[in-house]
Amino acid sequence: FREVSETAGDNGLMVYDPGFQNTAVVTSTITYIDGDKGILRYRGYPIEELAERSSFLEVAYLLINGNLPNKVQLDSWSNRIMTHTFLHENLVGMMKTFRYDAHPMGMLISTVAALGTFYPEANPALVGQDIFKSESVRNKQILRIVGKLPTIAACAWRHRIGRPYNTPVNHLGYTENFLYMLDKLSEQDYKPNPVLCRALEILFILHADHELNCSTAAMRHIASSGTDPYTSVAGAAGALYGPSHGGANEAVLDMLQQIGAKDNVPQFIADVKAKKKKLMGFGHRIYKNYDPRAKIIRRVAYEVFDSLGKEPLIEVATELEKQALNDEYFIQRKLYPNVDFYSGLIYKAMGFPTDMFPVLFTIPRAVGWLAHWIEHCEDPETKIYRPRQVYKGEWFRNYVPIEGRP
Ligand code: ACO
Repeated sequence: FREVSETAGDNGLMVYDPGFQNTAVVTSTITYIDGDKGILRYRGYPIEELAERSSFLEVAYLLINGNLPNKVQLDSWSNRIMTHTFLHENLVGMMKTFRYDAHPMGMLISTVAALGTFYPEANPALVGQDIFKSESVRNKQILRIVGKLPTIAACAWRHRIGRPYNTPVNHLGYTENFLYMLDKLSEQDYKPNPVLCRALEILFILHADHELNCSTAAMRHIASSGTDPYTSVAGAAGALYGPSHGGANEAVLDMLQQIGAKDNVPQFIADVKAKKKKLMGFGHRIYKNYDPRAKIIRRVAYEVFDSLGKEPLIEVATELEKQALNDEYFIQRKLYPNVDFYSGLIYKAMGFPTDMFPVLFTIPRAVGWLAHWIEHCEDPETKIYRPRQVYKGEWFRNYVPIEGRP
């Protein structure tokens, strides 16, 4: 293996791998995926068992600390997260300056980046590069980010609907408090709907980590330069915002709305096969089988619809799934529903507008990003990320003054 060029025009040995399809850049102990068999495990635990039996904060503890907590550890962890939910008034003031119709994801990304400026003691540029070798310094930032994200998300939502922001209520659970901050009138009146709380917990568990997906890779990429976790999380959230990643469930709903009715499904499938359209919520870089999260989410969707009333687009979604799963085009390319095919329908039934969807993805995925950040900080082999390129441009040209150019 040669890292260094030996002759002019020789770049050393490189692998040209667009989109890092076959390049492993880290070793990790967080999440295991077998895309061919449809297996997903966090720290060795099957996702199905965690979704069935765990709470989101328990899974967050598992991802971040490596093991499931005992009762005392879980109580202490939950308590510390819930006492880090408040935002500095100036940060709240900053959020209020956004346009009335600002996209909540734009607000979230900017606010998380701004959050870092409130904690200069965690800024390596100010206090030194080695700061994140300290577990206690890292833990403090993690509590703040995990604790404050639902508050930022709720403020972004309140902003969008033109209502005053709500302050967090620490004695509620993580998702209960989030639902409370979104729209409730008073703490006393608030009665969380247990079906919705549990549905949100499961959705958060399923979205918490997915090894080196685009946003987690972005988190590690940004963190590799030694920047603070607030900036890295904001950057990772930027990566998640795109329609091929966290924007996919928003795109699924747009697609279902465009299709409109069951009868239009065959024409839509024909357009996809003619490459005029893409079947959003289908396909995955890793899963070449049914995404195990999609199976769980499908069940949750029906539980939520039983509680809140049926979402009319579910019929279109079910028909689309049925026809695609029986069509050679999709079978040959191993295109199955992914986690986002049903999540958008659940969020819509719960009353969220589509532009809140990537925000609802960011809250749990930040836990995965932070677990990877810890692994990055503790990895003695960590290096700054700097992929190579294959240069295909002009080889050499002399400067021509502007008057002499064609
Ligand atoms: N609809 C129609 N055709 C598709 C789809 C789709 N959703 N996804 C892939 N294909 C086709 C491609 O056109 C290609 O066909 P070809 O061989 O005839 O050229 C073949 O399947 C392979 O596709 P790639 O683009 O090489 O697959 P890749 O692994 O790069 O893409 C991705 C994965 C980006 C997720 C893609 O499947 C996609 O865009 N899906 C829709 C968006 C989506 O749901 N994203 C969410 C992913 S999950 C998450 O982020 C949480």
